[in-house]
Amino acid sequence: MEQELRQLESEAAEKLSSLKTLQDLEDVRIRYLGRKGLFTGLLRQLGSVSPEERPRLGKVANQIKEGLEKKFHARKAELAAAAETGPGSDDLSLPGRVIPAGRIHPVSQIMDEVCSIFVDLGFAVAEGPDVELDYYNFEALNIPQHHPARDMHDTFYISDSILLRTHTSPMQIRAMEMAKPPLRIIAPGKVYRCDSDITHTPMFHQVEGFLVDTKVSFADLKGVLTVFCQKMFDQKDIGLRFRPSFFPFTEPSAEVDIGCVICRGEGCRVCKQTGWLEILGAGMIDPEVLKMVDYDPEEFSGFAFGLGIERIAMLKYGIDDIRLFYENDLRFLNQF
Ligand code: FA5
Repeated sequence: MEQELRQLESEAAEKLSSLKTLQDLEDVRIRYLGRKGLFTGLLRQLGSVSPEERPRLGKVANQIKEGLEKKFHARKAELAAAAETGPGSDDLSLPGRVIPAGRIHPVSQIMDEVCSIFVDLGFAVAEGPDVELDYYNFEALNIPQHHPARDMHDTFYISDSILLRTHTSPMQIRAMEMAKPPLRIIAPGKVYRCDSDITHTPMFHQVEGFLVDTKVSFADLKGVLTVFCQKMFDQKDIGLRFRPSFFPFTEPSAEVDIGCVICRGEGCRVCKQTGWLEILGAGMIDPEVLKMVDYDPEEFSGFAFGLGIERIAMLKYGIDDIRLFYENDLRFLNQF
């Protein structure tokens, strides 16, 4: 009986190595290892073997069976892999795979839109460093060491004199140092503050705008910002509110609010129930700042403003939590 078992083993092994398809493999399995297969038939005869021989033959039969089963599984994996990559494996009638297209982040879309409105109004674009000197971020903007206004900025310091810029206003100084009036510049970029809630993120975007020339007045500032808001929100009668405020680098200063488009002025958690959302700070450039860059304040005057891009994106798209922009959730981002 042992000889018959060995004979079946080598026969099955030979068939396994020569067959070519998964169907042939299944046929071989049924023929040798199936419930009514040859191997099972032989095992049934074990009962008629002498009781002394039975344990040894039983062991041999099990070893052969296990070995064949292993070979069978290995061959199955080989044939399945070949079927996936081999000739004829492509089904040309299947629809093609859609490669998802990337899209521009909503904050970048708004940034582009804001810049293009100001470019149309004749402003040139300038960019500056995110890692900034204390001098440009504070000192030259009339915010000396220990000035209380520094507290408003929640600054990330890198060393005593180097920091992550807290606003884009340092670009006023950098641009004015390099050129003489007339100047009409916007400076878009990232800014950083240690701040986080539904209307604040530690990294956000601003666009600084400034214009210096002879006889520039607050009326010019109001005119430019009103035209900007009308275009940005595509609304001729847009609600705009100039609130007296304070910035050390502008005098007089204002914070500009826009009617909350989320609650339409009714009051919601984004506008803190006021019906208004602050989108920018602005004012006439302080004569002290003009002196820092050797401009004569008797001859020149200018206005400046700093817009929060995420705030505008929230208003435009009706988003009530600024942090959604930076969670990288595709279900959110795919809507823009
Ligand atoms: C400034 O940053 C001034 N540099 C703006 C300025 C420029 C005033 C030129 C005068 C002349 P303020 O801290 O208010 O100001 O920020 C400006 C705008 O940035 C705010 O109106 C708001 O829209 C946005 N903003 C401020 N902090 C955050 C924050 N943590 N996350 C998102 N947006 C913010």
